[in-house]
Amino acid sequence: SLLTQDDLKQIAAYKAVEFVESGMVLGLGTGSTATHAVSRIGELLQQGKLENIVGIPTSKKTHEQALALGIPLSDLDHHPIIDLAIDGADEVDPDLNLVKGRGGSLLREKMVESACRRLVVVVDESKLVDGLGGSGLAMPVEVVPFCWAHTARRLESLFGGGGGAGRCVAKLRRAEGGGEPFVTDNANYIVDLYFAGPIGDVEAASDAMLRIAGVVEHGMFLDMATTVIAAGACGVTVKNK
Ligand code: A5P
Repeated sequence: SLLTQDDLKQIAAYKAVEFVESGMVLGLGTGSTATHAVSRIGELLQQGKLENIVGIPTSKKTHEQALALGIPLSDLDHHPIIDLAIDGADEVDPDLNLVKGRGGSLLREKMVESACRRLVVVVDESKLVDGLGGSGLAMPVEVVPFCWAHTARRLESLFGGGGGAGRCVAKLRRAEGGGEPFVTDNANYIVDLYFAGPIGDVEAASDAMLRIAGVVEHGMFLDMATTVIAAGACGVTVKNK
């Protein structure tokens, strides 16, 4: 029988939950893949196969899901060191660098996952790329709403953009329905960057973006993932850093 993309996401997520042990403080990721891991953790707690878990959600949405499943929750203020986080990604490069945030969450994810001993990333194989930014899909940047268009232009020109002819086009993300700006969990906006090809020097790009005053955080997660679990039609691959 044929596996759907969602089946592959679930396979990867369940595999990651095998790393979870009783007593752990767990970062709970966000998105259509991570949600399978959160459900599974809830199930194992209910069955008594896991005990004494503390979950640290990476978004309001995951917070709600975990609450409904009865997973005990806390935050970074009370648990500054997290044993393990499980989260999805939009792109994964051969060095296990990531793009995240296409679902709209990235700042809380980055705060939580910067505090993790291990970050296990779960994806279907369509997320594997040769170089970040090369998929033609959005590279999300969280910006303050104040003069977002100015910040978007600065981001664009950083990468030799400027109105579509260049290497990079910046677009404000809109809420579903089109009109209003999409608003993040932290009351910010998201500017999506579209690149003509892979970014190349991702560290330099990261530093340059973070030096722009209106930028809060960007969706590149560099040197953070310790394991990537990718599920494909031919099976599951586990890659460790
Ligand atoms: C949410 O904004 C994210 O960072 C997700 O982890 C990422 O977008 C992957 O989401 P899916 O698992 O839904 O593809």
